[in-house]
Amino acid sequence: METLQESLKKILSQAEEAASGAQDLKKLDEVRVRFLGKSGEVTELLKDLAEVPPAEKPVLGKVINEVKNKVTALLEQKKEALELSASDAPPPGFDPTLPGRTLPVGKLNPLTKVLKDITGIFKEMGFDLAEGPDAETDYYNFLALNFPPDHPARDAQDTFYLSEDLLMRTHTSPIQIRVMQNHKPPFKFIAPGRVYRNEAIDATHHHIFHQVEGFLVDEGIHMGHLKGTLDTFIKRFFGSRVQTRFRPSFFPFTEPSAEMDISCIFCEGKGCRICKQSGWVELLGCGMIDPAVLTNCGVDPEKWTGFAFGMGVERIALFQYDIDDIRLFYQNDLRFLKQF
Ligand code: PHE
Repeated sequence: METLQESLKKILSQAEEAASGAQDLKKLDEVRVRFLGKSGEVTELLKDLAEVPPAEKPVLGKVINEVKNKVTALLEQKKEALELSASDAPPPGFDPTLPGRTLPVGKLNPLTKVLKDITGIFKEMGFDLAEGPDAETDYYNFLALNFPPDHPARDAQDTFYLSEDLLMRTHTSPIQIRVMQNHKPPFKFIAPGRVYRNEAIDATHHHIFHQVEGFLVDEGIHMGHLKGTLDTFIKRFFGSRVQTRFRPSFFPFTEPSAEMDISCIFCEGKGCRICKQSGWVELLGCGMIDPAVLTNCGVDPEKWTGFAFGMGVERIALFQYDIDDIRLFYQNDLRFLKQF
C-alpha cells in the first residue's frame, strides 16, 4: 500500500499536470473541483484525517494542508495567465482582417511651409537663426536703421504705434541691429518673423504678414557676395533655370540698395498673366549694410562690411503656388489648405 506521503506527491503532480493542460477558465474550474471541491481528492484526504489516531493528526494535517495550499496557488497562477491571454483576444464580432480606417492628416499652412523652406536653405548655407520681438522701439525699427526722426520713409511704412516710443515692427530689419549689438563679426544670420503695417486689406495686402531677413558681416564683403548668395538661394528654392536680376533702389539702411527680380517661373521669362507680360517678378529688397548702421551697432565699418536682404513670405507663396488672394492664408478654410 502506498504511504500517505506518496499519494500526496502523486496528487500534487497530477494537479500540476491538469492545471497546465487547462485551456480556458471553465476547464480550470473543473480541475479545481477535482482536487479542492467538496469531494475533491485533497478534501477527501482531509476528511480521512478524522480517523487518524490523535497523536499523528498534527503532523499529517500539516502535510495535507501544505499540499492544499500548493494546489490553490497553482490554480491561481494558471487563472491569471488565462485571464491575461483572454484580454488579448479580439472581442466577438471583431474581424482583424478588415483594413483600418484612415484618419485625416493635417497639413502645414503653405505660408509655414514656404517659411521653413526659405530658412532651411539658408541654414544649409551656414546661416544661424535669429529672432526679435514683434513690439519694437522706435530706435530698433527706425533710428538705428538710419531713419532720422523726420525721414519721409517712416511714413511709407504705415506704422501701428502702441505708444510714442513703442510700435509693431514694420519689417524684420530691427533684428539686424539686435544681433549686431550682441555678436562680434564675422557672422551670418537668417531671421524670419511677423511684421505689421497699417494698410487696408485687399487681395494683395494684409496688415500682418511675414518677412525673412538675412545679413552677413565679414571682411572684404562686396555686392558680388550678395548677388551670389541670393542667386544660389533662388536656384535652390525655385529651380536652377530661374534667373535673377538686380535693379538700383533705396533703403535708408543699405548703400547701395537694390531690388532683386527673378524670371517668371510660369512662363520662364516669355511673359504671361502672372508676370504681367514682363517676364520678371519683383522678389526682395537688399543692399550693402550702410556704414552708419554698422557704426550704430559698434561694428567698425573700416574693417567690416556686410550685406542684408529682406523678403516677403506671402509674396513668395502667392507667386510659387499661383494664389490670387493673400487673405486665403489666414482664413483657415480647409478647402484651401487641403490643396497643399
Ligand atoms: N526691410 C526692407 C523692407 O521691409 C527690406 C530690406 C531688408 C531691404 C534688408 C534691404 C535690406 O522693405
